[in-house]
Amino acid sequence: MPDNVGAQWNAGETLEDAKRHLLSPSEEMAKLGKATRPLIAYGEGIHVVDAHGRRIIDGPAGMWCTQIGYGRREIADAVSAQSLKLSYNSPWYTTNSPSIELARRIAEVTPGDLNRVFFTTGGSTAVDSALRFTEFYNNVLGRPEKKHIIVRREGYHGSTSLTAACSGRAFNWQNFDIASPRITFISAPNIRLAPGLTEAQFLDKLVREFEDTVGTIGPDKVAAFLAEPLLASGGVIIPPKGYHARIKAICEKHDIIYISDEVVTAFGRCGEWFASEKVFGVVPDIITFAKGVTSGYVPLGGFAISERLLDKVAGENAKGSYYSNGYTYSSHPVSCAAALANMDVIERDGILQHVRDVSGHFADALRSLRDLPHVADIRVAGLVGCVECLVDTASPEVTDRDKKLGGRIDTHCFDLGLLVRPLGNVCVLSPPLVITKSQIDEMIAILRQGILKAAAELKQPAEA
Ligand SMILES: Cc1ncc(COP(=O)(O)O)c(C=O)c1O
Repeated sequence: MPDNVGAQWNAGETLEDAKRHLLSPSEEMAKLGKATRPLIAYGEGIHVVDAHGRRIIDGPAGMWCTQIGYGRREIADAVSAQSLKLSYNSPWYTTNSPSIELARRIAEVTPGDLNRVFFTTGGSTAVDSALRFTEFYNNVLGRPEKKHIIVRREGYHGSTSLTAACSGRAFNWQNFDIASPRITFISAPNIRLAPGLTEAQFLDKLVREFEDTVGTIGPDKVAAFLAEPLLASGGVIIPPKGYHARIKAICEKHDIIYISDEVVTAFGRCGEWFASEKVFGVVPDIITFAKGVTSGYVPLGGFAISERLLDKVAGENAKGSYYSNGYTYSSHPVSCAAALANMDVIERDGILQHVRDVSGHFADALRSLRDLPHVADIRVAGLVGCVECLVDTASPEVTDRDKKLGGRIDTHCFDLGLLVRPLGNVCVLSPPLVITKSQIDEMIAILRQGILKAAAELKQPAEA
């Protein structure tokens, strides 16, 4: 236990204060003031420890972010040292060494000519800033009508007005006025929902849909295609092989900016610094990142952008313009110092190679759950994967009963010592990247028990 988890800490009082004063993300308003979420006291390696002292494997790595695990002295020291040296400077009229060094280090590992980096405060602001760049770009180029954005259903890109409007998960839209006439949704590349098609046929269908959508809107009106390499929060949906490269080719033909949202996949999740090129075969125009850049220790996000794109609106082509988008905490020196320490640890400990080494074991372990009742699909890439459960596996539609089943599995797993990201009927695992093979086995064994327990309950008449 870390020294600073004091014995005098009163978890009961803390929870009462949470009920009275805290409004959490995705708060269930009917329960406001009446219930709180499990209180996590501290983290160690791949585990979190709750207020009752129970050690729980952190299956989702926080929110797909705690890459190098909890309690790393290297990051704490870097944050401490930078806080004492220079805790803040305005990025609007000065600069600092950690952000410059981090931009260089990131540029060294991005694909293609994505050699310049803009820092933000997290994933939503990274994607928002990238999208705002496309507006800026087309306005400077004198193409004010080229503003349309194409995105996928089930995609998730953040919680600003613009990024929420680009997110295709119906749940996030309830009671918010975010619909925008300049955003068009196309299908999620989920082959489970295309029965009877081969992967190649399904790919052709998706590509045709994209091409038709561009044609219908008008190529001169489409500014950007925004896509996660794999749809993470949408339920770990992995597109057919070659999907991104074929869509990118159409984007190139029509001068459409391809934005790869790597907020989840970057910094090792798929065994590479960035997954776009090395795992998914595409060199995007812009890549957004956040989460794993600091392993979740402090907030930071950003995007890396192609020099070719910037050259068109910089220098002699700038026409007096300013990319006047940014934040008080853009390029924050303490966050950037944490990110540099994080990159050092990932390099020193060979964590990218480790992910490549254990990801086959992770995939096999997940797939071993296929024999269980209600398991409809298992999807996995690198160290992110999911088990999709349906009450009736023959029926592709996801119902409230399926979501309830997923909720039961999550609850059982939590009681058994495994945190699973609650995503409706999809049990998501994206553990800290330092997880070992035996810890993977432990995690999957608990998930197996959780599924079996929930399945047994379904058989009871009252619950069915
Ligand atoms: C792919 C993707 N983009 C953007 C975001 C938003 O990031 P943040 O919550 O840090 O604002 C998320 C968050 O989960 C995400 O998964």
